[in-house]
This record gives sequence, structure tokens and C-alpha cells, in this order.
Amino acid sequence: MSKVIVTGGAGYLGSHTVVELASAGYEPVLVDDLRNSEARVLDGLATLLGRRPRLHEVDCADRAALDRVFEREGAVAGVVHFAADKAVGESVADPLKYYANNIGSLVAMAQVMQAHGVRHLVFSSSCTVYGQPARLPVDETAPDNNAMSPYGFTKVAGERMLRDMVVGDPAWRVVLLRYFNPIGAHQSALIGELPLGVPNNLVPFATQVAAGLRERLTVHGDDYGTPDGSCIRDYIHVVDLARAHVRALQWLGPAPAGTCETFNLGTGRGSSVLEVVRGLEAITGRPLPHIIGPRRPGDVPEVYADAGKAARVLGWKAERTLQEALADAWRWQQALAARGRD
Ligand code: UD1
Repeated sequence: MSKVIVTGGAGYLGSHTVVELASAGYEPVLVDDLRNSEARVLDGLATLLGRRPRLHEVDCADRAALDRVFEREGAVAGVVHFAADKAVGESVADPLKYYANNIGSLVAMAQVMQAHGVRHLVFSSSCTVYGQPARLPVDETAPDNNAMSPYGFTKVAGERMLRDMVVGDPAWRVVLLRYFNPIGAHQSALIGELPLGVPNNLVPFATQVAAGLRERLTVHGDDYGTPDGSCIRDYIHVVDLARAHVRALQWLGPAPAGTCETFNLGTGRGSSVLEVVRGLEAITGRPLPHIIGPRRPGDVPEVYADAGKAARVLGWKAERTLQEALADAWRWQQALAARGRD
């Protein structure tokens, strides 16, 4: 069984990817210091996998500790590197935290991989690198240096570093995955997103409102030049996203040395904030309390993916609809409430 190290494996995207890797026959090993996740994710993973996955509680920016992980694990087929901070507002207030952690952990990981002869890497990037694209849907050839926050620039810089690394040492094989807006949860409701504190993102905030944990949702602006005036995003089910990582690793296996390819991961379909609100109302059968507020600084009006390259090259396509993703997000929120967590 091929062993794959998943950094940030106890996080939202990481935990779903661990499940999909295991069901594809890989042995996922988690590296996560749990700074932004909870150990109870491992209980959910244990139930889904039928065994507790191994977790190294290690800060990925700690090179010596990472080195010990690789020593202990022996043969490792590849790494999926999720571990990063991702709150846009916080990155504006504390950019050094973001550069130190997001870039620091990537540099440390790449160095340790190199030292141990592990050269297959899948990197978590974001559509944030495009800013507001001139043409929609946006494909991978669009200008990708247009992030609007320090968080976004850690992704731009991370991608750049990895491309340079592969040029300098073509023994590497790297895939850069640009996520659009991952939402939803595993259908079992055993794992899902566990935002600490007040969620920044639309769907976790909205499901908390639907559950009565928050008074109302503020829609950040309805005066954009979009059909209903609210922002448009490409919401992708987290399980579809997780499966793309499995495909990326499988594809990297026989790929020629020196491969460094970038893929958009989205559905290709844009949905507005107000459509998400109506979608959730349809699922819960109740109105979702919301008001229209001012625009949120740094928001782009409209972005959705051309995910054709991932379909052509990886043979991957998002299969789940927005409604399925919202239904799974809602089921997860209810499961959390049943377990007494807000
Ligand atoms: C954000 C980040 C993005 C990051 C992603 C994952 C910004 C500008 N972008 O994406 O870089 O990769 O999170 O963490 O922050 N909305 C509301 N009310 C709310 C919350 C959100 O109306 O309470 C709206 C936003 O204005 C936006 C849409 O919902 O139009 C989606 O927002 P969000 O879920 O935060 O994702 P992004 O901003 O697209």
C-alpha cells in the first residue's frame, strides 16, 4: 500500500482527502499540529476508515520535526500539503504570520522531501491567485499574480517557488491545485468543517444561522453587476475536491520527471450569495434570516472555473450539485448540534 503524507490532514479539506485516499487504496498518514482543528476529527476518521489513521502532531514549519516524521515513516510515495492558515482578514492584520507559516511550512516540507528522496507533491492553491479575472470562466492560462491579500500572495508565492524548484531539479513531480469554494461535508456527517469561533466563510456561517446559533446572515453587498446583485462564486463539494487529490497523485505516478502542472478545481458553475441563501432555505424548509449589508473589502464580484483541463488531463470532474453540497453541510451542522458543539 502506498503511503501518502497529508499535512493539515485533520483540517476540513485534509480530513476528506484522507478518506478518499484510503478508499483508493493509499495509506494516509497525517501531519497536523491541530492548531486549527480538533482531535475529534480523528474519531470521525477512525469510524470511516475502520482504523485510526496515524497522526504526527508536528508543526510543518519545524524542519527537524518533519525530518523525524519521514525517518519514522520510511517509504513515502508522496505528499499532499494542505497545512496553512487561510483567514483572509487575519492575513491583512498579521501578514508575517501568514508568510512565516504558509511559506515556511512549504519550504521546510520541500527540503525534507528532497532530503528523503520523496518527489511527488500535491499543493493546495486557490482561485484567489486570479483576483477578479478579466474573462469568465477563468482557466489556468489567466494572469495568476492578482491575489488581493497576504493570504492570497502566500499561494502565488508558493506556486512560484514550486515551479522554480522543479526547473532547478527535474526529479520532482508536482501538481498545483487551485480550489474554488469548497463547501459541504462527508455524507456520513462524521467529518465536516469545524470553524473555530465565528466562521468567515458563507456556508458555515449560514448553516449556523439556520441552526439558530447566530441571529442572521449579512449578505455582503447586493449592488454588484451580477444578475441579482450579490457576488458569484463556484461552490464545489468537498468530497469532489478531495477526490481530485487522489486523481492528481495517481496521475503523478507515471508522469514524466520535471512535471509541474496547475489545475482549477471547480464545477464550472457560478452561484450567487442569494442563490445559496435560497438553496439552504429549500433544504431546511425555513426562511434563513438575512440582511443586506455593505460590500466586504477585497471581495471579487464574480469568479467561476473553467475546469476543462482537470477533466481532459486528470479525468476528474465535480459530480455533486450545489444542493447536494448544501444538504450535506446542513446534515453536518445538525450532527454537530446533536453532539453539543456550536
Ligand atoms: C475566501 C477567500 C479566499 C479563500 C477562501 C477559503 C476572501 C476575499 N477570499 O473566499 O481567498 O481561499 O475564502 O477560505 O475572503 N459572504 C456573505 N456573508 C458572509 C460570508 C460571505 O455575503 O457572512 C459572501 C462573500 O461576500 C462572498 C461569498 O459569500 O461573495 C463567499 O464568501 P466566502 O465563503 O468567505 O469565500 P470567498 O470570499 O470566495
